[in-house]
Amino acid sequence: MQIGSIGVVGAGTMGNGIAQACAVAGFPVTLTDIAQPQLDRAIKNIEGSLERLVKKEKMSDDARNTALGKITTTTDLGAIGSSDLVVEAATEHLPLKLEIFGKLDAAAKPGAIIASNTSSISITKLAAATKRADRVIGMHFFNPVPVMQLIELIRGLQTSDETYQAVEAVSKALGKTPVKVRNSPGFVVNRLLCPMINEAVFAFSEGLATAQEIDDAMRLGCNHPIGPLALCDLIGLDVQLAVMQVLFEGFKDPKYRPAPLLVEMVEAGYLGRKTGRGFHTYG
Ligand code: CAA
Repeated sequence: MQIGSIGVVGAGTMGNGIAQACAVAGFPVTLTDIAQPQLDRAIKNIEGSLERLVKKEKMSDDARNTALGKITTTTDLGAIGSSDLVVEAATEHLPLKLEIFGKLDAAAKPGAIIASNTSSISITKLAAATKRADRVIGMHFFNPVPVMQLIELIRGLQTSDETYQAVEAVSKALGKTPVKVRNSPGFVVNRLLCPMINEAVFAFSEGLATAQEIDDAMRLGCNHPIGPLALCDLIGLDVQLAVMQVLFEGFKDPKYRPAPLLVEMVEAGYLGRKTGRGFHTYG
């Protein structure tokens, strides 16, 4: 199956990054969200991100304008009915995802593939909420999407070979490197990454060092591009917490217990960069 057009559901950090990557690769993109202000913010972010590339002479003015012209935004979920592939990038919350998958199944055209950008929820479970389980797959992008090379492709129990091959081809067309991963809580990257970040939160809350010192230690001692607490701010503390909860519940292993300080910071609304405050503060 050849994918010619892409729908993206959810215009948050990941949704707008995915829309940008697809548009830059030449796919017409329908970006939907329930809230118009979120869509307006998404377009602003995409413009800002493309502007960076133009300023660095990595993209021409024309290419930027062409990419922006490929993106249509709407609050009408029904508009994804024209897309061959729909990528769901809504909040990481199982009941919400299940509800959206039911709606997407009704709105998407027959034969369309529905992918989820979930960072940890079972693809098998999401597929079972549709009548096209063989055409459901996980397509896990990384933040910031325009920069990060990897897409984890997660096959649910029901995912067909044809679906996998079509989505693998799209991933490559986006200039990304797909890695095939079996459906399991957290897949590969978050299974390894999020417990490390969680441990950094424990270290911080126990007063081992300041947030800056913990980040400096991991940057300078392990050559990480940014420290674990700064990365948590980039990912979003709410997303980090959601992943830890899925790991904790999925494996029933106390080693995945979310750090109490992480829980409390999410309760306070300190979600990281997107709210201006997490383990660090942002202007
Ligand atoms: N759009 C376009 N380009 C961007 C960008 C964006 N949104 N953000 C950064 N860039 C580009 C910059 O233009 C710059 O390009 P050049 O090298 O050509 O100059 C390059 O990326 C580096 O950016 P900066 O110089 O601004 O800053 P930096 O060197 O600190 O890099 C970073 C920023 C790329 C985010 C880097 O810190 C990094 O790689 N961090 C780790 C990111 C990571 O681990 N992501 C995975 C998170 S886990 C996840 O997403 C999964 C999940 O489910 C939780």
